[in-house]
This record gives sequence, structure tokens and C-alpha cells, in this order.
Amino acid sequence: MSLVFARTRLVVASGPTREWIDPVRFLTNASSGKTGWEIARAGLKRFTAVVYIVGPCDTPYRRLEGALNIPVTTTEEMGHAVLEALSPESLLIMAAAPADFTPVHVESQKIKKQPGETLRHLELRPTMDILQTAGERAPKRCFRVGFAAETHDLADNALAKLQRKQAHFICANEVYRDQAGFGEIPNTLRVFDALGGEKRIGPLEKDALASALLDYLEIRLRDFEHDFQTDES
Ligand code: CTP
Repeated sequence: MSLVFARTRLVVASGPTREWIDPVRFLTNASSGKTGWEIARAGLKRFTAVVYIVGPCDTPYRRLEGALNIPVTTTEEMGHAVLEALSPESLLIMAAAPADFTPVHVESQKIKKQPGETLRHLELRPTMDILQTAGERAPKRCFRVGFAAETHDLADNALAKLQRKQAHFICANEVYRDQAGFGEIPNTLRVFDALGGEKRIGPLEKDALASALLDYLEIRLRDFEHDFQTDES
């Protein structure tokens, strides 16, 4: 087993979240949960412990045998579960697609439609940005990896997210509805890091991509560890 990963707990957040509008409707997105599940699964062989925090995603990815499974529904629940799971020896991979907005008021009864009427207002407030909050609150040696799902200006947007969320790595992928990024289709990641590194991984099926990503992170984390040691000496 490797030196860097052997003493580390892997925490993976995966899938979408749901924000309820009324008792029968919610806001969500098209995340299948497969990327996070494959990363957590690849982690079972490499880490002493894997925590899998998962939103209501496609059925095969809702549970991972061998991991500590924590099912959640809303972004707030996912945020609390992530923050609670982090320790100084954790590697956090935020592969989830948490809903960014939640209704200001959740209707206690189903919103009824009137024939021909336009529903004009659905007031939304931002949810917790989990990766950013982890960047502000996590112990120093807890490494944090985010994803950046982009439809345009991939590198610029990914680098802005790396900085804004104080992450160590951002894995950027292009997403289009019914194409790469969401679901079962082979994918390419561009991994940017806080030491200025950039690496392209793929195109690969998501299981191979997950293993290749962990292999790369392991090598790259040695440079971050070295950086910490230099800082402390
Ligand atoms: N993320 C998070 N909490 C949120 C939203 C996103 O922790 N409320 C994480 C995602 O898991 C991912 C990273 O932040 O690792 C970037 O997510 P992405 O959806 O690409 O970006 P957003 O921050 O939502 O920004 P935008 O929608 O403007 O691109």
C-alpha cells in the first residue's frame, strides 16, 4: 500500500441533492452518481477507510459495499455529513452535484395549477457551498478535491473555482445534456492544482478514470506533503 494513502481516510460525496418545493416536487439535476461511486470503489483498495456520502442518485450507485455509507437528501444534509467526516488525515473528493439553490418557502401543500395560469414566482436562496466551507473550516492537512462541470471556458472557470473554494485540486470536465460528463459515457478530466500543475486524464470509461485519477492524486499529493514539510521547517 502507498505511503500517502495508507494513513488516509477517503471521503467521497456523490450524486445530486434534492431541494423540496412542495410535498411532491423538488429541484435537482441529472447527476447519476457514477463518477463518485467509481472513485469511492477504487478507493477501497487504496485507503484504510472510505466514507461514501450519497444523494438520491441512480439506484446502482446509492450504496457501496465495503464503505461507510451515509445517504443524504438535501445540500444542507450533505454539507453536514461531509464536514463531520473530515479529519486531518482525510482526502475529500466532492464528486457530487449539490443543488445550488433551495426554495425560500417550502409549501406544506401541493401547489395547484389553475388552467392557463403562469406560476410567476419561485423564490430561491443559495445553499451551502460544501467544498468552499470545507476549504474554510477543514483541518490543514485535509486535502480537498473538487469537480468543475463546465459547458464553456473550462480552464478559466476551473481555475477560478480552485481559488474561490480553496481546494487543492479541481477536476474539470465538459458536460452537455445527453453527452459526456453526466451518466455512462467515457470522459476526460483536466486536473488543475493549487501548486500550478495541470494534467489531462482520459478519455476513459468512468471506472478506469476513477483509478487513474487516484493514481495521479497519490503522486501529486507527495508534492503537497513536501510543501507542507518545507512550510513547517
Ligand atoms: N459544490 C459544493 N457545494 C455546492 C455546489 C457545488 O461543494 N453547493 C462542489 C461540487 O461538488 C464540485 C465543485 O463544488 O466539486 C464545483 O461544482 P460546480 O457545479 O461545477 O460549480 P458551482 O460551484 O456550483 O458553480 P457554477 O454552478 O457557477 O459553475
